[in-house]
Order: sequence, then C-alpha cells, then structure tokens
Amino acid sequence: MRAIVLLCLLHGAHGYSWDAPGTNVQPLPDTSNVCLLDQASCGCCVIQKQLQVLERYIDVDISEMSAVLNNAKTTLNNIRASRSAFSVALSNSSSVSCYGPFAVNKPVLYQHVFINLGGSYSAATGVFTAPRSGAYGLAVTIYGVAAPGTALSTCASLLVNGQAAATLFEQNGQDLEDSSSAVVTVKLKAGAQVSVNLIKGCFVCDDYNHYNTFTGFLLYATD
Ligand SMILES: *[C@@H]1O[C@H](CO)[C@@H](O)[C@H](O)[C@H]1NC(C)=O
Repeated sequence: MRAIVLLCLLHGAHGYSWDAPGTNVQPLPDTSNVCLLDQASCGCCVIQKQLQVLERYIDVDISEMSAVLNNAKTTLNNIRASRSAFSVALSNSSSVSCYGPFAVNKPVLYQHVFINLGGSYSAATGVFTAPRSGAYGLAVTIYGVAAPGTALSTCASLLVNGQAAATLFEQNGQDLEDSSSAVVTVKLKAGAQVSVNLIKGCFVCDDYNHYNTFTGFLLYATD
C-alpha cells in the first residue's frame, strides 16, 4: 500500500529516481497512465477517486457555508439597521421647574436626550414611534415636589397607541415630594406610538438630576 501511495505521490514527476543501496539506478516506471490501468486493483485510483469525492464534498460544504455566512451577514445588517433605543429626561435645568398641572391630559415633552438611537423619539411631540414590530422594554419614572401647603399630585400614564400600558399615581397630602416608576415589556407593531401622558391636575418636576426619565428599547424584533 505504501508503495502505491508513493507511486501516486510521484505521479507526474517523471524521470525522478533515487539510489537504492547496492542496486543500479533504475528509472521509475511511467505512472502517467496509472488510472487507465485495471482500476479495481489500482489503490492509487481509489485514492484519487476518493480525493475527488472529498473535493466535491468540500466544494459543496464551502458553498453551503458561504450561503449560511451571507444569511448571517444579512440578518446582522437587519439587526444593525433596526437598532432602536431612546432614553430621555424631562429637563436639564439647573433649578427645579415643574410641568403642569393642566386642565386636560397632556403629553410630557422630555427635552434632555441621553440617547436616541434610530431617531424614533421626537422631543417635539414626546412620542416614540416603534421602527419595527417586536418586543420592547419601556420604563418611566416621574417625580413631583409640591410647594408647602399645596397638594402633591404627581401622576402620569404610559400610553401605547393612546391606551394606558401603566399608570403612575402619587396623590396624597402626607408629604411634599414623591416619585414612582413603571417598567413593562410589550409587543409593539411597527409604527406604534408610545408616550407619557400627564394626567389632568397632575404635575412633574425636574432639573439636571433627571428625576423624570422615559426609556424604551427594542428587545427582540419579531419580523
Ligand atoms: C446638563 O446639566 C449639567 C449640569 O448643569 C451640565 O454639566 C451639562 O452640560 C448639561 N448638559 C446638557 C446637554 O445641556
């Protein structure tokens, strides 16, 4: 078997020979027609054939792998293109100022932007528009401080398409300041609108300490 393999390796290297101890230099047999010989008895041909089969397998595997790779690249690009995360605070002013109370419900317009990846949060409207369908994490924290002798009323709703997904409510005469938070994960369709609604009669107060924050991010895309 070793001799046959050697024959294979030397196939194509015509004229090569080596000195065998105590023998005359003999030219190697011509092996160029080795595969035309009786194939059943030709180990070399078997090896060659197996190599050819192996090559075909490798070619197929490589093309399959590059298809899988391309698929992965496309998926990754889609994920990159649909990255969505925003986080905002009501204000960044050096002194505390309050928003509200109003006689009607009003959207809270968060002005201090920590991040707005994908640009789907609008500071002009206070609305985050889901860029694509998926599971989104949403979080809101509100804070209010009342002047002594006045009633504290800090309340807001986290709205998804106008419906309250969570409501934060602090309304009592026990203390002058309070805060509350809500964190939810919801399924949103592309184009869904998320905002924080200041409930009529309520107010929120903020400064550069960012007591009021509104955050959302795409957890998993579902299309
Ligand atoms: C926010 O306020 C802090 C403290 O006053 C200040 O250092 C920072 O530059 C402000 N950031 C922006 C974006 O205005």
